[in-house]
Amino acid sequence: MCGIVGYVGGRPCLDLLVAGLEKLEYRGYDSAGISVIDNGQIENVRAVGNLENLRAAVAEQADEGGGVAVAAPAATTGVAHTRWATHGRVTEENAHPHGDCTDRIHIVLNGIVENHAELRRELAEQGHHFSSETDAEIVSHLIERNYDGDLTDAVRRSFGELRGHYAFVAMHADEPGRLVGARKECPLVAGVGEGETFLASAIPAFLAETREAVAIENDEIVTIGAGGISITDSKGNPVERAAEEISWDEAAAEKGGYETFMLKEIHEQADAVAETIADRLPSDDGVDLSEVELDDDYLRGIQRIVIVACGTSYHAGLVGRYAIEEWARVPIEMDIASEYRYRNPVISEHDLVIGITQSGETADTLAAMRLARENGAKVLAITNVMGSQATRDSDAVLYTRAGPEVSVAATKTFVAQVASMYLLGLRLAELRGTLPPERIAALVAELKSIPSKIETTLAVSEAPAREIAAAQAEHDFFLYLGRHIGLPVCLEGALKLKEISYIPTDAYAAGEMKHGPIALLDESTPVICIATDSPVLEKVLSNVEEVRARGAETIAIVTEGEEKAAQVADATIEVARTDWILQPIVAILPLQLLAYEIARARDLNVDQPRNLAKTVTVE
Ligand code: G6P
Repeated sequence: MCGIVGYVGGRPCLDLLVAGLEKLEYRGYDSAGISVIDNGQIENVRAVGNLENLRAAVAEQADEGGGVAVAAPAATTGVAHTRWATHGRVTEENAHPHGDCTDRIHIVLNGIVENHAELRRELAEQGHHFSSETDAEIVSHLIERNYDGDLTDAVRRSFGELRGHYAFVAMHADEPGRLVGARKECPLVAGVGEGETFLASAIPAFLAETREAVAIENDEIVTIGAGGISITDSKGNPVERAAEEISWDEAAAEKGGYETFMLKEIHEQADAVAETIADRLPSDDGVDLSEVELDDDYLRGIQRIVIVACGTSYHAGLVGRYAIEEWARVPIEMDIASEYRYRNPVISEHDLVIGITQSGETADTLAAMRLARENGAKVLAITNVMGSQATRDSDAVLYTRAGPEVSVAATKTFVAQVASMYLLGLRLAELRGTLPPERIAALVAELKSIPSKIETTLAVSEAPAREIAAAQAEHDFFLYLGRHIGLPVCLEGALKLKEISYIPTDAYAAGEMKHGPIALLDESTPVICIATDSPVLEKVLSNVEEVRARGAETIAIVTEGEEKAAQVADATIEVARTDWILQPIVAILPLQLLAYEIARARDLNVDQPRNLAKTVTVE
């Protein structure tokens, strides 16, 4: 998830663009860049690292008598970008803006172009030269191919050739005073000032300059100039939309209008999964994980997988264990990284050890991965951060593409990790021939539908989660019960409540309840049960009955339309129906919301819970 800012108007744009990027810093990034139109040509500067490095690069250009800062008169049209790497390493070449072959068209992009590989091949055959490893650069070359004197037309035609999930802004040296943007699912919003217009991926980028904002919708093309904006749909039909006055203060604006980063990130989960699966499911019936540097013969021959991780990442691994064992029939051993590294584990070169870590910097996970490598196993890192230590301490990497997560309590990185485990499970099943092709195709289709199911589940569970929280927030203990794939969901739900509300919780395999935890139950214990559709649903429901018989209040997470499940509990929250193995990715959503609402009801700071850090780098 990158940050985009563009400006057209009467003022020198360089400082406005840098100020806009500063306001997008909260999104996190690894490199940044700016391009401006200066007397009929484009000047560009890019730097790896923080905005200080970008400012230093601007100053260095100026010292050399050129670059973005020395235009006379000062440039008044420009685009800028902060990059969170997804395709291509963190290097200056991969930083945006990206130019075409003639260096007269520059673009900045947020998101993923799914068909980048085929477009790159096609454009290369037609003589285009690329200077980066990114999917984004394709867009500038596509616009070059489609350009016929009108940037808006060229962007529209190019938009029609792209598949994916993105927003971008383009400029052409021949058309100063104009920027053209397009949006497909990633955010893009225009800020309309007096004689000037901004185009950005988030409102904070221009809030200090104007409070008049126009949201660009999916499949729309927007052209901005000093005099305002014009929007069309992707076929060129005009769209009328009035500006809205933004009343948020700057702190609220950084959170996209949500009251906390955690809530904002809960609502980014559909995107996080969509970006994670995007080009890895290029067809209707298969998985493309060719970017993961483990060859197919090796994957076919693995005898065992060991998953090591901490915290929420460990829970994502647990979900993965059920999916991979079910689909690919590879035995999986799971361990908490801090346990694994100190227990002299049995490791061989036939093992694949998977380290799951959103930050890529968790000390225990890194140590466990190193230990595995020293003992001859191959190590695959599943991480959200390009260039993190985990990517250097492993043989191969599978990136989650959740974008930076600010809240200490992990939410969107969890669903992206679970989605990655599903991709891996399906790929292994394909290679090892353990699932019929029709079942793989059905699961691929189901996985593709998950982002929209996340959206609908969040929409329907918000109100009941708030209601249940209002009724239960004062209890001093919560028990979570589940079986099979419901168990890791319980563990993660209980962890969320514990870490942000400081309420003691326990999460248990429902079948194990009678061996001890049942002693805890009385009228004062809310019990949260994962009763989504699965082959063990009947068993879970009989556990719910046992709990109710002790007078405890039961709250069940149920699959939409499952009447029986809804009838046995005192309160229910429905989640969208999907394949039962995929249920955890939607079943976790109401539990995140419930934990969130309970913590808010107790007036706690959910983004920064006490005693916890986002990344734990000490051993
Ligand atoms: C910390 C965070 C948790 C996270 C865990 C593992 O404890 O508070 O939210 O799940 O680290 O982090 P990782 O970056 O390795 O996924």
